[in-house]
Amino acid sequence: MSDRHTPHLRETAFGDYQNEIYLSALTGVVPDLPMAYSELETRAAGAMSPPLLSYVAGGAGDEATQRANVAAFAHWGLYPRMFVGARERDLSVEVLGATWPSPLFMAPVGVIGLCAQDGHGDLAAARAAARTGVPLIASTLAMDSLEGVAAELGSTPGFFQLYTPTDRELAESLIHRAEQAGYKAIVVTLDTWITGWRPRDLATGNFPQLRGNCLANYFSDPVFRRRLGTHPTDDPRGAVLLWTQLFGKALTWEDLPWLRSVTHLPLIVKGICHPEDARRAKDGGVDAIYCSNHGGRQSNGGLPALSALPDVIAAADGLPVLFDSGVRSGADVVKALALGATAVGIGRPYAYGLALGGTDGIVHVLKSMLAEADLIMAVDGYPTRADLTPQSLRSLP
Ligand code: FNR
Repeated sequence: MSDRHTPHLRETAFGDYQNEIYLSALTGVVPDLPMAYSELETRAAGAMSPPLLSYVAGGAGDEATQRANVAAFAHWGLYPRMFVGARERDLSVEVLGATWPSPLFMAPVGVIGLCAQDGHGDLAAARAAARTGVPLIASTLAMDSLEGVAAELGSTPGFFQLYTPTDRELAESLIHRAEQAGYKAIVVTLDTWITGWRPRDLATGNFPQLRGNCLANYFSDPVFRRRLGTHPTDDPRGAVLLWTQLFGKALTWEDLPWLRSVTHLPLIVKGICHPEDARRAKDGGVDAIYCSNHGGRQSNGGLPALSALPDVIAAADGLPVLFDSGVRSGADVVKALALGATAVGIGRPYAYGLALGGTDGIVHVLKSMLAEADLIMAVDGYPTRADLTPQSLRSLP
């Protein structure tokens, strides 16, 4: 166990969020945002249009992988340790040379813009990052430009997630704009050069980008505009058509040296679930691996992402490993950390927080998750991230 008297430990007491809530209740103010994840999901569903809900909540096939992502966490339990006196906790983690106050981050969510009542959910997510210190990975598919999103991040780090276009010049333009805007890393998503089979969206024929949504990064891009030959507002249909042609490059290992060469920023590859891919990506010079199955949105019939995590971490051999898919609570965050994740991301939970309560709704979701993680570490006697190891967990029969 680490020395709990280290002075920097009590920088942020995330668990204090519960004191705020209990104390407010003494003056008759009870939380108007949900405290339980199931209620968050149900109430957010009521606040979203049916097509938007199906896009956010839905996944690939009959959504077995998506459910398995969530269920996988129940196969692990944390041993409580006593006589530790974990009165103060330090949830901070080192990620690519920076210290984050906690391991939590917001995964890229392409329609987050539409989840806000005003259609500017990308900005709301960045503001929530600024308010909480929880980093945001901004998606390529956004209602506001990556520059506009970066401007709302305050001092919280943002990463830019790239859907690699088929046109290298456009890809490089997006990457260089992200560098200019101050993003701290480029996250290349590997599993979504084509859209997976999503029955809920197919049933309503709903694909937001084809309606011109979430394309601000393309429409504001000089290379994209040059290819279009006019301003996107002068030819909206042509702009969407061009986007369909440029969207998704089916990357191969031959593309990795190019991706590595076009940016001086740390390069992270998202969607890695096989140890051999982790090893090869490491050999190709990436700075971090991002283990994820896209929240089960891209292909059904797959492993829960959590079950892929230990082998990916072993293969990453010291490289940081970011993780997401199925994280719904502070307990889940703690378990992913104990398995060895460097940082832990959420997708749908913060989209629901936004739909229900705007920036405040996201802040509430993040603070609740961190409070729970912090209090579990207190009760179970794990005062720092370093105390959480695979030996802290036992798998259930
Ligand atoms: C996503 N995800 C995603 N990933 C990415 O790299 N770029 C993107 O634009 C999007 N867009 C997106 C939209 C929606 C509606 C969802 C729900 C997810 C995947 C996301 O980054 C993350 O991998 C999953 O959301 C994690 O799973 P949970 O937390 O939703 O279970």
